[in-house]
Amino acid sequence: MTNRESIRVWQGDITTLAVDAIVNAANSSLLGGGGVDGAIHRAAGPDLTAFCAGLGGCPTGAARITPGFRLPARHVIHTVGPVWRGGEHGEAAALADCYRNSLALADAHGLRSIAFPAISCGVYGFPPETAAHIAVANCRAALAGPGTIEEIVLAAFDQRMALLLSEALGQPA
Ligand code: APR
Repeated sequence: MTNRESIRVWQGDITTLAVDAIVNAANSSLLGGGGVDGAIHRAAGPDLTAFCAGLGGCPTGAARITPGFRLPARHVIHTVGPVWRGGEHGEAAALADCYRNSLALADAHGLRSIAFPAISCGVYGFPPETAAHIAVANCRAALAGPGTIEEIVLAAFDQRMALLLSEALGQPA
């Protein structure tokens, strides 16, 4: 751990956060969908969807960056979480890749603050308690190394996810 470590849990709508980047739990088309993806595309406006259409999609575990358009966040980092298929299909490693690759992309762009939703914990069915530990472990690892990120917000839409993230954060690395 370093002095610049700051990870906090926050409950609410991620589209309201004025951070350098919010992360979108997208699908591999990057063309929008429901859940947090739909909320981000609605709040950012049609220019986001048009920009995403030019990116040619994104594989599971990878990340792509776009402007935030009408969002208070300057950028959106789109990542594609794994669909939960019982846990024996590399789901945990793929979810860790989402966090790692999103944070590496943020760092490559010199960003200082980033907010994550609970990637894969909605439609994609990833068990939220395990996902919370993966989120915290990979955020801690990123902050422990060199880089520009100073503040990571783990954004939970509901109280249950906020509690699970807080519990994971309360446990030592
Ligand atoms: N702010 C913060 N969190 C949100 C918001 C929001 N506005 N809306 C939903 N969430 C939370 C959900 O409660 C859930 O905990 O985001 C988490 C992720 O849920 P989903 O959005 O369903 O994402 P995921 O499980 O990764 O599924 C991705 O859903 O809509 C599609 O295009 C998307 O196909 C992709 C799939």
